[in-house]
Amino acid sequence: MHPLLNIGIRAARRAGDIIIRNINRLDSIKVSTKGRNDFVSEVDRQAEADIIETIRRSYPEHAFLAEERGSEGSSEFVWIIDPLDGTTNYLHGFPVFAVSIAVAYRDRLEHAVVYDPMRQELFTASRGVGAQLDGRRIRVSGQRNLDSALIGTGFPFRGKETWLDTYMPMLKAVIASTAGVRRPGAASLDLASVAAGRLDGFWELGLQPWDMAAGSLLIQEAGGIVTSLSGADDYLRCGQILTGNARIHDALSALLSPLLPTEPA
Ligand code: IPD
Ligand code: CA
Ligand code: CA
Repeated sequence: MHPLLNIGIRAARRAGDIIIRNINRLDSIKVSTKGRNDFVSEVDRQAEADIIETIRRSYPEHAFLAEERGSEGSSEFVWIIDPLDGTTNYLHGFPVFAVSIAVAYRDRLEHAVVYDPMRQELFTASRGVGAQLDGRRIRVSGQRNLDSALIGTGFPFRGKETWLDTYMPMLKAVIASTAGVRRPGAASLDLASVAAGRLDGFWELGLQPWDMAAGSLLIQEAGGIVTSLSGADDYLRCGQILTGNARIHDALSALLSPLLPTEPA
């Protein structure tokens, strides 16, 4: 295993332990609001600090893009971190959340870890080497037809200024064209589910790089396609993601890209 991935796994498991240790005291966890419906807790901050410290012990020169602390350092190696993806679920005791860690070298994602501390499932990928769940190779689903497909999504929820008006017709179109739509509530884990073939496809608008970085490499290494909703490669920058195996990706793209506004919302 590549040493960078090894350190990423160590950091993700430690963060997972912090998250689980605190689950018995959800009522007393200090929570603050970053914006409407956008919460951060002391657990997010503690997990993130621990991840950065764990990585820095092995790679003191590396840079970070982490959800709570923002950008730190300057290096060709950048660790992209969501210490607790699915904070709203976590704070309600709804057991769907994850730790997401990716490392990019010269702006290209190289290694990825998504760890689900409730199920103790570890999703990993390294560029060119494939994606694994608990060490076993995973592939995106072989689903050929959109009407039999199970599709994941995320609702825009952060305030009036979000993508809701663009999103609702998309949701309607996907519900009408597939076997079902799910909104689990932790984007990194949703993407890991696509990589493992548990979901046939996924789309969401208004995401941040740390929500998508690790999960997108998992999907690519599991044989799937990841683009923005307009089919471009800049999903990490523009924050919209559309993914699935090649057939489902293209079918979803045909359904959803005509519903994008010509000007960003
Ligand atoms: C959120 C989750 C959610 C997605 C949001 C994300 P957070 O991350 O991934 O599923 O719909 O857009 O911001 O804030 O819990 O780390
Ligand atoms: Ca997140
Ligand atoms: Ca988070």
